[in-house]
Amino acid sequence: MTYTVFGYGSLIFKPPPHVISEVHGFLKGYVRRFAQKSHDHRGTPENPGRVVTLIHKEEWDAFSGSDAFPDEDIVWGKAYTIDPAFEKEVREYLDYREKDGYTLETVDVWGVDLDGEEVIVLHGCYVGRNDNPSFIGSEPLDVLAHKIWESVGPSGPNKEYLYNLVEAVRKLAPESHDSHLYALETRIRALDRLNKLDS
Ligand code: SIN
Repeated sequence: MTYTVFGYGSLIFKPPPHVISEVHGFLKGYVRRFAQKSHDHRGTPENPGRVVTLIHKEEWDAFSGSDAFPDEDIVWGKAYTIDPAFEKEVREYLDYREKDGYTLETVDVWGVDLDGEEVIVLHGCYVGRNDNPSFIGSEPLDVLAHKIWESVGPSGPNKEYLYNLVEAVRKLAPESHDSHLYALETRIRALDRLNKLDS
C-alpha cells in the first residue's frame, strides 16, 4: 500500500521530504484548532507555544462554548504520496517532527474526481488526540492570540507558524473559510501593530 500523509498544519507549508505527488483534500466532521501545546518547535518546555490539531466536531462542541465551529468552515489540507523507496526514512522523520503529543491516525480525506464527484481517500494523519499531555483544548481567543504572538521556539516565532498556515490555507482553497484561523490572524496582526507603535 502506498504511504500517504495528510497535512493540515505545518505539513501544508513545510512538506515532508521525498514527496512524489500531492493533492488537495478536505475533511468532514473535523475542526482544526490551536489546541495543542508546542514545547519543541514553536515554544519551549517552560513557555510552550500553540499548534493546530484536529478534533471531531461533536467533541469540540463539548469543549468550547465561545469558539464554536461554524458549519460552513472546512478543514482543507494536502495529501502527500511518499516515494516508496524512502518510506521508512520519512516515517521516522515525521514521527520525530510530530513527537510532541501527535499520534498517526487514519482519516477519510475527501477529494473531487475528474467528473466533479466527491470521493474518499484514506490517509495517515498526525493528530494530537485530546488525551495526550500536550492537548490544551479551548482557550479564549484573545488569550490564545497573545500566547501565539509572544511564543518563540527552535523552529521560530509561533506567529510565523500561524501566518504561514493562514497564507497556505488561503492559497489551497480560496473559496474555503476557516473562522478560527482568520480570527486569530486579525488579533495577532493587531498585536504586531500595537507593538510597532509602542517601540
Ligand atoms: C500537520 O501539519 O498536519 C500536523 C500538525 C503540525 O505539525 O502542524
